[in-house]
Amino acid sequence: MSASTPLPRTEDSADTPGGVPLDRREEWIRLREHRDRLGATHLRGLFADDPGRAERYTLDVGSLHVDYSKNLVTDETLRLLNRLASVTGVARLRDAMLRGDHINLTEDRAVLHTALRAPRGTVVRTDGHDVVPEVHRVLEKMAGFAERVRSRTWTGHTGKTVTRVVNIGIGGSDLGPAMAYEALRPYTDRGLEFRFVSNVDGSDLNEALIDADPERTLFVVASKTFTTVETITNATAARNWLLAGLEAGPEAISRHFVAVSTNADEVEAFGIDTANMFEFWDWVGGRYSYDSAIGLSLMVALGPERFREMLAGFHLMDTHFATAPAERNLPFLLGLLGVWYGGHFDAQTHAVLPYSHHMARFPAYLQQLDMESNGKSTQRDGRPVAWRTGPVVWGTPGTNGQHAYFQLLHQGTRFVPADLIGFAEPSPDLMEGLSAQHDLLTANMLAQGQALAFGRTEAEVAAEGVRPDLVPHRTFPGNRPTTTILAERLDPSTLGQLVALYEHKVFVQGAVWNINSFDQWGVQLGKVLAKRLEPALTEGADVSSLDPSTAALVRRYRALRGR
Ligand code: F6P
Repeated sequence: MSASTPLPRTEDSADTPGGVPLDRREEWIRLREHRDRLGATHLRGLFADDPGRAERYTLDVGSLHVDYSKNLVTDETLRLLNRLASVTGVARLRDAMLRGDHINLTEDRAVLHTALRAPRGTVVRTDGHDVVPEVHRVLEKMAGFAERVRSRTWTGHTGKTVTRVVNIGIGGSDLGPAMAYEALRPYTDRGLEFRFVSNVDGSDLNEALIDADPERTLFVVASKTFTTVETITNATAARNWLLAGLEAGPEAISRHFVAVSTNADEVEAFGIDTANMFEFWDWVGGRYSYDSAIGLSLMVALGPERFREMLAGFHLMDTHFATAPAERNLPFLLGLLGVWYGGHFDAQTHAVLPYSHHMARFPAYLQQLDMESNGKSTQRDGRPVAWRTGPVVWGTPGTNGQHAYFQLLHQGTRFVPADLIGFAEPSPDLMEGLSAQHDLLTANMLAQGQALAFGRTEAEVAAEGVRPDLVPHRTFPGNRPTTTILAERLDPSTLGQLVALYEHKVFVQGAVWNINSFDQWGVQLGKVLAKRLEPALTEGADVSSLDPSTAALVRRYRALRGR
C-alpha cells in the first residue's frame, strides 16, 4: 500500500444540519479506497513487512497495556481514521460534553457522567451550576450509610443487623452494580450477601428471597425514574414480603428500604423515607450511572475507600480521554477501529472476551452501554444514517467460550473483531494452589489472539503429516483481528479505567456516526405495547384489535393457563 496524498482540511461539523453525510466525506471515501487496496492483505504479511508494529501499536494508559497490533490496520489506516475523527468533530463534541453542554439533543440534557468521578474542588458547570459539590455530598451520604451497614450498626425493624442486601433495579440500575460486584468480589465484605434482582419474572425475586430472613434483609431500590415497571413491581412485592414476614406495618419500611433515584416524589409515594434516598441527576444516563448513587449496593459491598479508588480509575481514563492527542488516545483508537470494521469490513458484531471469571458480567454490561447508546439509525439532525452504526456486542469469559463458539470465530464465515481482556495477577484471595492456574488462563488468551491472527496455513498443516483430505478441515485462515488489553490486576481502579475506556469508545463512535448516543427511544415501543397487552391476557378480554399472530398467541396462552 502506498501512502496517499494529504487530505484537504475540511473541518465542517457532521452535526450541522445539512452537513456532509459521513459516507460522502472525502475521508470516508479515502478509507474505502484504502480498504480496497488492502484487499486480502493478511496479518501475517503485515507483521512480516513491519515487525516493529508489535511495539509501535501499543498504548499504555494507567494500569492498562493495550496491544492493537493484531488489527487490520497500517499507519495509513490510522492516519485516515484520525482524519475522519477530526473532520467529524469528535474532539469538539467531547469538549462540549465535558463542559456540560446539552449534547443529548433529543432530551435536551447535559451528559456529565465524568463529573461523577471529578475530584473534589474541580468545577464542572451545567446550566451555570457547579455539580461537583453535589456529587461529593451524595458520595459522603452513601459512605455514611455504607459504613453503618458494614459495621453492622444499621439494624432492621426488630433490631437485628443486616446480612443480605437486595438491589432491585433494571438496565443501568442493575447491570453496572451487578457487574462490578462480581468483578470486585475479592474486595467485598464476604460476611454480607448481595443479590441483584432485575427481571419482572417473579422467579428472580423469588430466588433472592426464598432463603432470606426479613429481619435481616435490606432492599436498595435503584431507579433513575422510579417509574420503571419491572422495578416498581418487584419493589412492591418485596415490600409485601417484608411486611408479611415481620408482621409489621409501614413503619418497618424505613429500616429495610432505601432508594436511589432522581425522583423524590415517586420515592415518597412508594413509602420510602426521602431521608433514605440517595439522589443523582438527569445529566447522568442510566447506562452511565453505576459510579453515581446507583452504585450504593456496590459501595456497601466494597466500602467507601475502594469505591473511591474505582472512581479515581474512571477519572484517570477521563483525563486521558480529555487531553491525550487523538493518535495516542485510547478511546479514540478503540472507537475508530470499530468504525473501520463496521464501515469497511461489514463487521456485524464485536466480541468482548475477558479472561477472568470475575468479569463474567462485563460483556452484558457493555451490551447496554454500547447497544443502547449506538443502536441508532437516525442522525443527530434527524436524517437517516446510510452507514453501519453500533455492532452487536457479546461475549463470555475465557476459557469457557473456547469450548463453545470459538470454532466459528476461527473457521466460520463471519468477521468478528474481538477484544481479549486479561490480568497479569490472579485474584488476590485465591485458595492455596489455585494461583498456579493463572498462567494457563493467560496462555489461553494469548494463544487465541495468535491463532485468530495468524491461523495455520495448508502447507503448515500438511507438513505435520495430516491426511491430505483433512488438510482443508484443519486449516485456520487467521486474519481475524483482536485487541489485547492486559492490565496489572483486576482491582477497583482498573475496573474504573476499563469502564471509562468503553464509555468513551462508545462516545467516539457515536460522534463519528453522527448519532445521539445518549437517548434510548428504541426501548419505548415494547414497553407501551406490553402495558396494553397485559389486560388481554385475562379471561374473556377482547383480542379483536390485535394483529392475527399476536391474537393467536394470546388465545393459546390463555388456553394453557385455563382462562
Ligand atoms: O431500558 C431503558 C432504560 O430506560 C435504561 O436506559 C435504564 O437504564 C433502565 O431503563 C432503567 O431505568 P430506571 O433507572 O429509570 O429504572
